[in-house]
Amino acid sequence: MTNPIYLALDVPHLRDGLDLAKKVKGHVGGIKLGLEFFCAHGAHGVHMIGQLGLPIFLDLKLYDIPNTVAGAMQAIHVLEPSIVTVHASGGRAMMEDAKAAASENTKVVGVTMLTSMDDQDLTRTGIDGSAHDHVMRLTDLSREAGLDGIVCSGQEVKSVHDRWKDGFFVVPGLRPAGSAVGDQKRVVTPRQARDDGASVLVIGRPISRAADPAQAARDIEATL
Ligand code: C5P
Repeated sequence: MTNPIYLALDVPHLRDGLDLAKKVKGHVGGIKLGLEFFCAHGAHGVHMIGQLGLPIFLDLKLYDIPNTVAGAMQAIHVLEPSIVTVHASGGRAMMEDAKAAASENTKVVGVTMLTSMDDQDLTRTGIDGSAHDHVMRLTDLSREAGLDGIVCSGQEVKSVHDRWKDGFFVVPGLRPAGSAVGDQKRVVTPRQARDDGASVLVIGRPISRAADPAQAARDIEATL
């Protein structure tokens, strides 16, 4: 079984990111680099982390017209990401073009609804109905558009997996039993998410803030 753990490298300095990635290298399946990292360190930073040899998940959450998103997808071919995110609310044509422009070794996954938003926030954007229904609708749209899967919470992954058996599901917001929850609200354990159908487990602070990050990653892997 390949290691499904992707370490979220949310650190401001490239040096610290490289040090951390080196420490956990043998105990995680990949590294997730987000918008903050990409804006700060660009392609150079991605390349530096990529040199360690681990798969790179570029969490760029692209959202623009189809032509522009497709152009961005083409521009990142050289970085050889294993996973890239686009916003599912960008619509079917955008997702289709994103997938068509991606390298065949890159999984393109849809961000359905930001977990920072609740039902009321959704209504304010002009969408009636529950957040759950909206997530399911965007999941179906991502699938119809030919994406590989979606990003979802550990609490949603079971129902999403039930309706999309061969989908690729990226799950953040995980906490090993007994660890600090921090700002995450609805957390599940890595093992639970895996059992419910997660393909990739995105884990940040439980590893990056541990006294011994490599040991923390090993301990989580052992629970799987
Ligand atoms: O430190 P922690 O394990 O909470 O990090 C989780 C990572 O997943 C962070 O990079 C965070 O931005 C990202 N994420 C999340 N919840 C989402 C989407 C992404 O926590 N719904």
